[in-house]
Amino acid sequence: MSREVAIGLLEEKVTTPHIIKHSYAVEAVMRALAKRLGENEDEWGLAGLLHDLDNDLVDWQSDMSLHGPKTIEVLKNSSFGNEEMYNAILAHNAATGKSRDTKFEKALYAADPITGFITAIALVYPDKKLSSVKVKSITKRMKETRFAAGANREAMWSIEELGIDFPDFAELSLNAMREISDKLGL
Ligand SMILES: [Fe+2]
Repeated sequence: MSREVAIGLLEEKVTTPHIIKHSYAVEAVMRALAKRLGENEDEWGLAGLLHDLDNDLVDWQSDMSLHGPKTIEVLKNSSFGNEEMYNAILAHNAATGKSRDTKFEKALYAADPITGFITAIALVYPDKKLSSVKVKSITKRMKETRFAAGANREAMWSIEELGIDFPDFAELSLNAMREISDKLGL
């Protein structure tokens, strides 16, 4: 499973620039989580990179449950990925009904919303930079339910099931995103 092939697929299938940026952000957070937990960094990173591959192929209004299965269909047609990765991608969307059992599945579920949440916090600052964001502002914003209301708090908190405290997760995610701040334009 090469990252180059995965990027080729991403750029072929996804045309929305913010979804491409989001994919790179989730990749970075997933790699950092795998490193922390002693798991497979490449595999977890690739799942992050590809988890929203079907963004342009699924009608989000009429059938949310196809978000995930459609990605797997594309990956299988491209002979890319493995079962663990498919299961993590399925489980990141609760509407698929796939339970989150493995560390891999739980990690992707939490990594997905935190990237958008941190992005929303960065955009509040005059310079709109990740370098302005502090871990404390992330934990504080978690309690403000009206701020970035679309970012699933329950999913982000669920990282604690992997034995990582939320502030620790916030710091790890912020640092991972900072490493690719140019790519994210933040
Ligand atoms: Fe996502």
